[in-house]
Amino acid sequence: MSTKQKVLQVLEENRGRDLSGQDMADQLQISRTSVWKAIQTLRQEGYPIDAAPNKGYLLRGEADILSAEAIRLHLNNERAKMEVQVFKSIDSTNAEAKRRLQAGNAEDMLLLSEEQTAGRGRLNRAFFSPQSSGLYMSLILPTVLPSSDPGLLTTAAAVAVCRAIEKVTGLSPQIKWVNDLFLDGRKICGILTEGVMDFETQTIQSIVIGIGINVYVEEEKVPLELRDIVGGLYRNEQTTVHSLRNELAAEIVNQFYHLYPGEGTPTYLDEYRERCFVLGKTVSFTRNGSICVGTALTVDDRGGLVIRLGNGEVTTISYGEISIKLAE
Ligand code: BTN
Repeated sequence: MSTKQKVLQVLEENRGRDLSGQDMADQLQISRTSVWKAIQTLRQEGYPIDAAPNKGYLLRGEADILSAEAIRLHLNNERAKMEVQVFKSIDSTNAEAKRRLQAGNAEDMLLLSEEQTAGRGRLNRAFFSPQSSGLYMSLILPTVLPSSDPGLLTTAAAVAVCRAIEKVTGLSPQIKWVNDLFLDGRKICGILTEGVMDFETQTIQSIVIGIGINVYVEEEKVPLELRDIVGGLYRNEQTTVHSLRNELAAEIVNQFYHLYPGEGTPTYLDEYRERCFVLGKTVSFTRNGSICVGTALTVDDRGGLVIRLGNGEVTTISYGEISIKLAE
């Protein structure tokens, strides 16, 4: 850990409280000058740190800046040593996750960025990822069981994100099969789960779970064509909530590992079904070039959506196959 990271960790642990430069230096076994230099760098990065002659340094409460140190503070004990990396800007955290896997990364790892310049969603759609307003994160699982099903991992991630949002903000999102979360009729989160194949065994060896949440949304900054679709946890509010995105990221990880890996039929599927507002509704989807319309009946034990078509035929569609629309 660099000196800057150590200083930030101590400030995070004492958020809103004064800490003398000497105490910090003693605690970290470094010089006061090193503490001072680290504080200057953190300020340049945007951390609101006050300094007063007889009091020392204080990280003000309101900052919501992503940092690995703050995230680790909120991770459960068994994950507390997990590698977490935060970028100021990156093309896509999922793309970086796959580069890490190609380079031989063998540990579970969490990557986040304040912005993405080429954020991606399912079906290769762009994912709008503006600076400091969302949570853009990818969880790397380098070795998964050969039987791991990206569809089921997506449903686990969707439930984990719902639970985390509820715990940290008190808001209750709903799920649109398979991987979108909605609040007040607008999309607030998308999940992109990607498997990396082992060419020799032709099985999925590694998984990357990419999660994008719109946290602070100012409508006027959203491109016109997305304005009716894009929602957010906090819409058109001028303030940020201190360290919210760090807490949320950590809680998502905590909840996800609580649900995964499970033996047998995953128990969270009942919760998924309860939160899934598509069930009982008329949906349409495209298969082999033609549009099919039917009623969504349930989500099966593999995460597939079971639909009764107009002609009475019951069909199941699976993750990655199609995207569904609610009928007008
Ligand atoms: C979707 O809505 O279809 C899925 C969106 C997934 C977006 C997240 S943001 C973090 C990660 N990096 C990406 O490029 N995509 C995922």
